[in-house]
This record gives sequence, C-alpha cells and structure tokens, in this order.
Amino acid sequence: MSQSRLRRLPQWQALQQHAASIGETHLRELFAADPQRGETFIAEDVGLYLDYSKQRVDADTLRLLRELAAACGLPQHTEAMFRGERINRTEDRAVLHVALRAPAGERIELDGHDVVADVHEVLERMAAFAEQVRGGSWLGHTGKRIRNVVSIGIGGSDLGPVMAYEALRDYSDRDMTFRFVSNVDGTDFVEAVHGLDAAETLFIVCSKTFTTLETLSNAQAARAWCIRALADEKAVAKHFVAVSTNAGEVAKFGIDTSHMFGFWDWVGGRYSMESAIGLSTMLAIGPDRFAEMLAGFHAMDVHFRHTPYERNLPVLMGLLGVWNNNFLDAASVAVLPYEQYLKRFPAYLQQLTMESNGKRVTLDGAAVDYATGPIYWGEPGTNGQHSFYQLIHQGTRIVPCDFIGFGQGLNPLGQQHDLLIANLLAQGEALAFGKTADEVRAEGTAEALVAHRTFEGNRPSSTILAHKLTPHVLGALIALYEHSVFVQGVIWGIDSFDQWGVELGKQLAKTTIAELTAKDEPVLAHDSSTNRLIRRYRQLRDAAAAGKP
Ligand code: F6P
Repeated sequence: MSQSRLRRLPQWQALQQHAASIGETHLRELFAADPQRGETFIAEDVGLYLDYSKQRVDADTLRLLRELAAACGLPQHTEAMFRGERINRTEDRAVLHVALRAPAGERIELDGHDVVADVHEVLERMAAFAEQVRGGSWLGHTGKRIRNVVSIGIGGSDLGPVMAYEALRDYSDRDMTFRFVSNVDGTDFVEAVHGLDAAETLFIVCSKTFTTLETLSNAQAARAWCIRALADEKAVAKHFVAVSTNAGEVAKFGIDTSHMFGFWDWVGGRYSMESAIGLSTMLAIGPDRFAEMLAGFHAMDVHFRHTPYERNLPVLMGLLGVWNNNFLDAASVAVLPYEQYLKRFPAYLQQLTMESNGKRVTLDGAAVDYATGPIYWGEPGTNGQHSFYQLIHQGTRIVPCDFIGFGQGLNPLGQQHDLLIANLLAQGEALAFGKTADEVRAEGTAEALVAHRTFEGNRPSSTILAHKLTPHVLGALIALYEHSVFVQGVIWGIDSFDQWGVELGKQLAKTTIAELTAKDEPVLAHDSSTNRLIRRYRQLRDAAAAGKP
C-alpha cells in the first residue's frame, strides 16, 4: 500500500526525523537546556493560561508542527468553517456552532441567509421562557409553579447540558431541582423522577432528530408518568417542551410546536450545548449568565480565528495532541480537572473528541495509515490520584495529561483549595521529572525496593489555569477543546463532524429487539455467539418473570 498524502508530506517526515532525535530526550534535559521554558512555553488569552513546558517538545518541534498545520491548510480550513462552507462533507452540511455564540448584529451567512439573527431569535424566546419558569409565572397544569426540570436527551443532547449544569451549579437557582435522563435503561428515568411532584415538574425533551430510540422511549415514559399523576392528557401542554430541528416529529409526539425551541442542521449534536439544547442550563443559571457563557465561547472563537499560531491556544493544544499521538505513540489523553464542579467534563469531552476524531478514513474515503483520535478519559483530582495515577506514573504506557485548575475555589473551606492545587502542581512535576534510582537510594531505600520506588518521569502534561470557574471561563474552556479537536481533524484529513460509526449498532438493535420480544422462540440468523446470547437472555428474563432463580 502506498503511503498516505499526510505521511508523504515533507513536514510530516521532518517531524518523524525530529521525533527520532528528541523523542527520548528527557524533560529533565529539556529544562536543563532551557531553564526558562516554564516561562516561555506558555500562552495566555481569554482568561486561560496554558503551560505546555512539560510537553516533550522544543522550539523546533513547535515550528515543525506549525509548518505541518500550514501544509495541511489549517488557515484555509478554519476560514472555511467560519464562513459556513459545507466542511462536513459526508453529510453535506456547514459546521457553524461558532454562529451559536456570535453576538447579536454580527452576520454569518449560509446560502445568503444570516443565521446569527435566527440564533438570537431563539435565544430571546428561550430567555423569555426561562424568566417565566424561574419567576414562577409559568404554571403547571394544576396551577402550581415549576420547581423541577427534567431534561431528556442522549449524547450531544445530554452530555453538554449535564456537564454545564454540574459545572455551573454554584450559579444555579438552588430552589429548583434539575435532573437528567439519557439511558434507555428504565432505572435512569425512574430514579430521575423519584420524589418529584408531577404538578411541579417540567420535562425538556432534547433531540436534534427527534427520532432517537432512547430519548423517545424516555419521553413516552415521562408523558405516561405525568398523565398518570395529573389524571389529564391535557397536562402535557404545560409540562413538556421540546428542543429539536424536527418540528414534524415534535408535533407527532404531541408537543405543541409553539413550545418547541429550534436549532439547525449546521449544529452538530456534540457542538450543541450552547444552542436551545442548553435550555436546562439557562433555566438553572438564568439568561444573563447563559449570555456570559456564550461570550466566553465567542472570545475563544475570535482568539482561534485571529491569533498567530505561536500563541494560539487551540492550535497549540491540537498540535501537541498530534505530536503525542502520532510521534510519541501516546494512545490516550487523561483530562484531570482539579475542580469538583467539572466532574462531568471528561465524559463530555469523550463525545466531543472521540465521536469527532474516531475515524479511519480521510475525507476522500481513503484508509488512514496513521493514528487518528486518541482515547480521552479522566476524573477530577484529587480522586484519580488514589486510583489510576499509578499507571500514569509508573506504567508502561505514556498518558499525556491535561491538568485544569483555578485560582479560587467556589467553596472556600480552610486551606483546602491550596491543598487541591498543591496536588495538581505536584502531579505535573512528578510526572515530568520523576525520581531517579540514585535519589531513591539517597533516601536510604533498601536496594530490593529501589526499582519499585523509582519514577522514570518524562511523562508529558499541560496545565490550564483560570481565575475561577465562571460561565465565561467554562465557555472559553469548551471552545478551546472544540477548536483543538478541529485542528487535529484537519491535520488527519478526516471529517470531524459526522458519526457514521454509531449507525451499525443502532440497525442491529432493531432486528434484535424483535427477536427478544417475539412471543415464540424466534428463528435466529446471527453468529453462534449472538444467537446463544439471545436465547440465554430470553431464558433468564422469563425465569426472572416467573420468580425462578
Ligand atoms: O448516536 C449518536 C448521536 O447521533 C449523537 O451524535 C447525538 O448527539 C446523539 O446521537 C443524539 O441525537 P439526537 O439529538 O438526534 O437525539
């Protein structure tokens, strides 16, 4: 097989050669050679400070990566996205989440139509609705005010809203309860409505397509729960709103489209949390703070579009990711927020990064001969330190880490915030510099334990700091990752905005559901494993239903 266009690029080959020379250079040596790198390998804007000095790069690496970006047409692709060209080629769609956070009055045209005006029209409707609910003038069917909001959705129609609610909980209306339902496992719905008074509960059904099995199943369950509790079909009108691009399906479901908040096919599911999909966020924190979050997103968009690559935060993060992934063979990235309110941020990033860049063919359909999107995972610090950090420090795989921390915690408790950040900083330092066998011996360690207590170090990390977790900072942080995913997708030449990989499982499930629910033993035509698992499941289910062990 001949090499791909990317690997044939002189810039790629130069990086390969460079990796052979610098690849094994220890961070201790890099810091010794350039003691100021902690002050120069940094970039700062939009309230975010990025220290990438503990990445295994030098000035040449960064130059070569920038040259690769230029050779891959990153500036042109970026402009194409901002101009609304149909860069989601396999779905023939524009990719304009940047329009969702553009200020009123800015124009972004799609086929000659200004989409920013549409965005602000929906934002105004959302704000009016949010004020009614938060202010108590939107009354439920029995005349009670709404105190509980249950958002139903999955994937991009859930992960963003849940993450944002958790992240901004400190800014939320504490007199209201917010819950989220995504899984088709009935437990998710039942637990979400546990203890709620239907008369005070509003359901937001979020689905771009309004055809997603999980969401529609849960929405039907919610409808039945509401009608049962309020003993009137008409209750749906006051207790359900929809967020979708598909008015036809919303109406078919029984939600009046005057209670629907729209968005557009140029918003990808995983890029939609600041569209009407974020209605639960706006209900929680109010329209003004929602606007602050949008401003944070927008500030990062402007930074990404106009800042030279040397200081461009998403470009730097994206290119460092390519370096670690393709030249240092790191197959995963750990995202480690030292901020409890960001506990769902890694899960959110998993969809953003892995659904976007988990692709094996280029835009032209040619198989790639290089690694594309790495596996993202993580947990808030310090919890992870007492669980999986062992592998990051002493395992056989390189796991580049993104540490995220804030100057101020939102819940000051004695010295605990300083303790938290001391841990963040100590981890980055330990990963980079490790502890040599001689240092371990000098501590008086028995020889038999020296190897066990040695840390080789040279484990790369970046650290992102901001003053505190505000709606603005959250918006900027998310946009930082969005654009770094974009940068990587451009380098790898893939479509970062489709998700065909989720289709096959959905199709097969349709056949299987008929087989699981068939009254008589179905004739099965799967492989022997799946056939037997289906039979075993039917037996287990029927035995459980009959009360047998
Ligand atoms: O199955 C994957 C996916 O299509 C995601 O891309 C999307 O965010 C999610 O399902 C939910 O889709 P919808 O918003 O149409 O219900």
